[in-house]
Amino acid sequence: MELTRGEEAVLNGSEGNAAAKSMKILVALGEIYGAERLIPIGSVQIAGVSYDNLGDAGLEYLSELAADGSVKVTTTLNPAGMDLLDWRKLGITDEFAQKQKKVVEAFAKMGVITCCTCTPYLVGNLPCFGEHIAWSESSAVTFVNSVIGARTNREGGPSAIAAAMVGKTPEYGLHLDSGRIPDLTFDVEADVKTLPDYGALGYYVGKKAEGKIPYIRGIRGSNVDQLKSFSGSVVTYGSKALFHMEGVTPEAASHKPPKEKITVSQKDLKEAYAALNDQTGPIEFVSLGCPHASIAEIAEIAGYLKGRKVKDGVELWVATARPTKGLADMRGYTETIEAAGGKIACDTCMVVAPLKGRFKNVATTSAKACFYCRGKNKMQVRLGTFQECLHAAVSGRWE
Ligand code: F3S
Repeated sequence: MELTRGEEAVLNGSEGNAAAKSMKILVALGEIYGAERLIPIGSVQIAGVSYDNLGDAGLEYLSELAADGSVKVTTTLNPAGMDLLDWRKLGITDEFAQKQKKVVEAFAKMGVITCCTCTPYLVGNLPCFGEHIAWSESSAVTFVNSVIGARTNREGGPSAIAAAMVGKTPEYGLHLDSGRIPDLTFDVEADVKTLPDYGALGYYVGKKAEGKIPYIRGIRGSNVDQLKSFSGSVVTYGSKALFHMEGVTPEAASHKPPKEKITVSQKDLKEAYAALNDQTGPIEFVSLGCPHASIAEIAEIAGYLKGRKVKDGVELWVATARPTKGLADMRGYTETIEAAGGKIACDTCMVVAPLKGRFKNVATTSAKACFYCRGKNKMQVRLGTFQECLHAAVSGRWE
């Protein structure tokens, strides 16, 4: 990979140890993937923030970088392992909280905006069409590539931090026109309406795509919440972090639908639901907001809960970004949800919080959460609409 004189100097320590270390990571990545150069980026989003995933080794790595490193572009974080202001309400121990705070402090020292969310595009970290960025959270990467037409590979935590420190990323993969060509057409004949329908479709398309880029036809009138749900699911279950959806993806019209075709029938969608659902016992945990809830979703949740009570023994979380909670506070939604016994979980989610062993059965609207709640947290899962999940929260039953 060709480096400019300035980049060579950074590699040799002109901007300190953290920048040199970061440049080394970017050069190594660029060489592995055959990049010819580094390109400037507009923003970064860093995953790998929960102390539950990082442990002491990760904390040490971040503290070293923070000693003399600072970010060069707008940079935000993925969810952490707890609500950073009110972790006790989520049952997080003070011992965990102290470690998690140190992780976030290290990022703050680097100049990162410590807004911990997987939907940064809803709260101010919003790229534009064609902009090169370096983001790591898979659902967010897929959303901005596919719905906005920004360009990012699916970065790991360390490569995203390195890109933030240098303000550049190697040009390969989804940054290039040649890396964004669809491989496989999906003709959707199934009726896809609700949030979990989009998640189930994402499951089916992801599984069938097997690492290819899907070109999707037959979906009309999707809203942002449905598209963020689909983005989270399709990449979790197997497609690349980009889809082309007719009528949604800005670049879709510039590509011909690939010849290889798969039809998605109502029966396929039903089978996807069957694969995503477990046989659960009584629901003890209802977790909404994966990817992090928008203000419209919080309004819907508050609307259902008005005048109702979450059943004793059932825990209800609404995971969201802290700025979105600010909007919910303004409209009285937080008060309504809390009066019903629910909890707004800012900065975190049911997957990255240390929940292993705490709950056996969870209800969620998210097909992505089904995958991680089963795999990481060993829970049995139910996938449904807000209405179905909230009914489970107030009754403890799945019907
Ligand atoms: Fe976000 Fe956590 Fe889901 S990071 S996409 S809410 S698993």
